[in-house]
Amino acid sequence: MNHDKTLREKLLQRSEGNLLRELQVADGLIDFCSNDYLGFARSEKLAEQIVSAKVDGVINLVGSGASRLISGNNHLIERIESEVAEFVAAEDALIFNSGYSANLSFFGCVPQRGDVVFYDELIHASIRDGIKLGLARSYSFNHNSIEDLKSKIATISPSGSVFVVVESIYSMDGDSPDLIRFANYCFDNGLHLVVDEAHSFGLIGENGRGMVSDLKLEHKTYARIITFGKALGCHGAVIVGSRDLRSYMINFARPFIYTTALSIHDQKAVHLGLKKLRALNFKQLNLFRLLQVFNDGAGNAGLQAIPSAGAIRSILIPGNSRAKMMEQKLFSKGFWVKAILSPTVPEGKERIRICLHEFNTRSEVEKLIKCICDE
Ligand SMILES: Cc1ncc(COP(=O)(O)O)c(C=O)c1O
Repeated sequence: MNHDKTLREKLLQRSEGNLLRELQVADGLIDFCSNDYLGFARSEKLAEQIVSAKVDGVINLVGSGASRLISGNNHLIERIESEVAEFVAAEDALIFNSGYSANLSFFGCVPQRGDVVFYDELIHASIRDGIKLGLARSYSFNHNSIEDLKSKIATISPSGSVFVVVESIYSMDGDSPDLIRFANYCFDNGLHLVVDEAHSFGLIGENGRGMVSDLKLEHKTYARIITFGKALGCHGAVIVGSRDLRSYMINFARPFIYTTALSIHDQKAVHLGLKKLRALNFKQLNLFRLLQVFNDGAGNAGLQAIPSAGAIRSILIPGNSRAKMMEQKLFSKGFWVKAILSPTVPEGKERIRICLHEFNTRSEVEKLIKCICDE
């Protein structure tokens, strides 16, 4: 009768394993944790521009009023789609309310029965959840291992299309696949490569176009997922690919069809965020200097940091309780970092995940490293 008792038992199990998730408000701490790599989310100037920007012809100034297929569509959202497609050299683009929803949409409806999806074993949960919604068979391959992918592909004989999905920068480890090899292999063998660019868009390539564009692999990639909640500092996501892919998702992607469209405020944030990104002088960014400071400092201190092309730096601190204790210690010293525990990561690979930002300072980075070392 009392279902809450069942829920409490489950929570207790989590608690006993040191795995209870709890919401926190980290007022006053130095942010080494959010994905706001460029500081757009906290930009007062951008916030003012978003509020004061006027959009011709838009009546719904608060919410969008309905899904895009009902009355939630407008010229601005379509303009953003065209601009993103042009920016990253794709044929077309479709906006979703979040990266989570974009991945549910794509993997839930694009691969069909008889198709097969191969995904990296560290792929984001949103892609796994999308695959579960779809009708295609799926297999994981060892992290970043094209050899394992090849050997697994050799064992199947699909009647339909084969999709391979990777992230250009992995959200937990911050590392990258050898995207050129993956793209060439997929292209040469008629496989459809899908790249989640959540953590590289806004950071990698000319004005943050992402890793696929940086490596000029656009024509060897079937689709890319780009999220707006990380370097762009706002909310939503876009899938870029062919015009047919866009039309298909408008017709079959349930998380796109059955939800209220992004509000005009969110749309303005994306639009102005993209404008700001395109105007940035990447050579002048403090973030890239800080990443070097971090790499040098962590290297000199002998910390086990996973190398990354992006702004995520994971320091391995094996054992859930050790990683958790480190998180708490850093909290008490004013640093906001996250411990990532098993089973989110494999046992023995527990870590402190650190994100560096444009707004962090050299002395903050140096103090953080010192604090990690003072065990
Ligand atoms: C690789 C990757 N894909 C997709 C998402 C989901 O994006 P969003 O936060 O916009 O839902 C995330 C967010 O954590 C991510 O890291």
